[in-house]
Amino acid sequence: MHTIAIINQKGGVGKTTTTVNLAVALARAGQRVGVIDLDPQSHASLHLGADVQRDAPTTYELLTSDVSLGEVWRDTEEGVRLAPANLDLAAAEVELAGVVGRELILRDKLQSDAEVFDYVLVDCPPSLGVLTINALSAVRDVLLPLQPHFLALHGLSKLMKTVGLVQSRLNNQLRLAGVVLCMYESSAKLSAEISADVAEYIAKLREQGTIGKSAQLFEQRIRRNIRLAEAPSFGQSIFRYDPRCNGAEDYRRLADEVLAVYASVPRELIAA
Ligand SMILES: Nc1ncnc2c1ncn2[C@@H]1O[C@H](COP(=O)(O)OP(=O)(O)OP(=O)(O)O)[C@@H](O)[C@H]1O
Ligand SMILES: [Mg+2]
Repeated sequence: MHTIAIINQKGGVGKTTTTVNLAVALARAGQRVGVIDLDPQSHASLHLGADVQRDAPTTYELLTSDVSLGEVWRDTEEGVRLAPANLDLAAAEVELAGVVGRELILRDKLQSDAEVFDYVLVDCPPSLGVLTINALSAVRDVLLPLQPHFLALHGLSKLMKTVGLVQSRLNNQLRLAGVVLCMYESSAKLSAEISADVAEYIAKLREQGTIGKSAQLFEQRIRRNIRLAEAPSFGQSIFRYDPRCNGAEDYRRLADEVLAVYASVPRELIAA
């Protein structure tokens, strides 16, 4: 099972859009996929068409009570299983403040979960609080969506520091799988410049080893596409909303690239 947290402390860079559409693309490619929504905004849950007001356990109960992940998973129309969030999750940060081992709750619940998945994707909020730390403690891989504008690299070193701290203290398996450029405008000179900067940054991370040693800049960029921005309000992935648009094509290709990357990971690493 591959576990991937989609993180970036910067808001609105494409985390949720990537989590949802990559998850659905992987499911359409025959993979068994789970999506865990760890953002109180619950955008991933809404994007997947879930009723977040329904009286059923969510990731809030998962993190703050003895509810198991098995009790939280539900089916979606998109062929992925979902552990939904709602606004209650906003209280988790405060409620967990005094709890010993609060960073490892998701890890423990994921480890004891009986469901079989090929991929579990965790959508994180735009902050580096206890929710994101829970995600980073529970997964092996970090996927970083980045919007190529000036200052895009600015927050990266802080982010990599946090990932490094979690790796050394809580999860020595953790590594940066890669960066995916979102809302890419191929006509803009800036986009090309920023991608070159990101590629250089990743090359440096690879040289340094540790968390960045197998990091990559995914070849497939996600172009700016209005259909991707419209789909969430219909509670549909891009593949149901408009399967022929550029956005669908980009996420389909990103999923192919992800599948190829993981197919080439040696088995002993996957088992670890
Ligand atoms: N490639 C794209 N083209 C056009 N619009 C996009 C694209 N990707 C995302 N968007 C839109 O940009 C906005 C921000 O995207 P998204 O919600 O995925 O970011 P986020 O990083 O999850 O935000 P937050 O930090 O608030 O969780 C959304 O309205 C989304 O529909
Ligand atoms: Mg989001």
